[in-house]
Amino acid sequence: MSLSIIGRSIAESVTLRLNETASILRAKGEPVIHLGIGEPKSKAPLDALIAAAGVLSSGDVRYTPADGIPALKQAIIRYTGDMYGRIVTPENVIASSGAKQAIMVAMQAILNPQDEVIFPAPYWVSYPEMVKLCGAVPVPVLPEDGSFYPTMQDIERHTTSYTKLIIINSPNNPTGVMYSREFIGQIVEFCESRGIYLMMDDIYHRLIFNGKKLISCLDFLKGSLEDSKLIIINGVSKQYAMTGFRIGWAVANKKLIKAMVNIQGHQTSGPSVVLQKAAVGAINGIQSCVDSLSMTLENNTKVMMDELNSFEGIRAIRPDGTFYCFVDFSHYNTDSTKLAYFLLDKVRVITVPGIEFGLDGYLRLSTCGSIKDITQGIERIKWALDPNSPNELYIGERKLVRDWL
Ligand SMILES: Cc1ncc(COP(=O)(O)O)c(C=O)c1O
Repeated sequence: MSLSIIGRSIAESVTLRLNETASILRAKGEPVIHLGIGEPKSKAPLDALIAAAGVLSSGDVRYTPADGIPALKQAIIRYTGDMYGRIVTPENVIASSGAKQAIMVAMQAILNPQDEVIFPAPYWVSYPEMVKLCGAVPVPVLPEDGSFYPTMQDIERHTTSYTKLIIINSPNNPTGVMYSREFIGQIVEFCESRGIYLMMDDIYHRLIFNGKKLISCLDFLKGSLEDSKLIIINGVSKQYAMTGFRIGWAVANKKLIKAMVNIQGHQTSGPSVVLQKAAVGAINGIQSCVDSLSMTLENNTKVMMDELNSFEGIRAIRPDGTFYCFVDFSHYNTDSTKLAYFLLDKVRVITVPGIEFGLDGYLRLSTCGSIKDITQGIERIKWALDPNSPNELYIGERKLVRDWL
């Protein structure tokens, strides 16, 4: 069978594969703890469910405009006003099937083969593959000082005449760190002055802790959005725990949005009307669910950090947001894939190998589960890795015996 160059070069989504592995093992009755998960456990907001049920019960479930229904675009405009302090027009907005599709159609609208796309590493697993889907070249930038905070010097060093787009994801998946207001200001200014597109992937921007405040990239825009190459990405998946509803959006200048709408119109048409209505319900509804999710995640993160701080040999940086901790396990194994499979095999704990995010020796641990998942998950990992652990560990009735190290 002959596959295209793209068909051959795009890697499988590791996070989706891990979800599948967890379901298969659980179905077999295995006591799996899923610390790889990338979605909150809470229920979708009631306002979203009522809105979706309303459309379904009407039976009037039709195509929508390719860029989304007017009510959703209005909700996004209000959201942008509230969160970013700027009123945009409906022509500045496209609703897509998840932030993932909004990012993808934006890339398809601006990238030519050979164009380079810079993003700080560690990075969200899909960025490099999406860039490759456009025939363009991913340029991950690992901060030179060994931290998770890129500097402008790091970015500038990798900028060439081929650089067409820079992607900034803060708070960041997988590290949970939130970049400083100063850095966001500098990168907006840098991209404006060089005529480079800047995509702010703000999908986690309301899930922040440690007293951090939301940062609006639009605060630093000198001119109008029309003259700018700034693209803001957001969606309902993370903040409203609505991952399965698949609604995300982009806000950008009208010309770019028009090109994105043309592409999306031929790709998938508009997202499902049922799910768009649900998103309208969530965005316009009672917002306490976002605060309560944020508080739960902050507490879970504290528990995870307490567990990790008593774990000899590993190194963990306190996240400012998201639901991930990105932990250095290189003392135990520098090959993160081998380590993740070892933990799955021996103690049935799912983690995501750091190499998938561009940094080997690390594992991404999720705080989306229960406190019990977090404490027992870390306890099992400690038991598996620490050579001084007792020889046996009980998981419920099941006795595990160390036959390694
Ligand atoms: C950084 C980042 N951007 C975008 C997305 C995609 O979100 P959505 O579910 O809206 O497609 C994710 C999901 O994991 C993510 O972590």
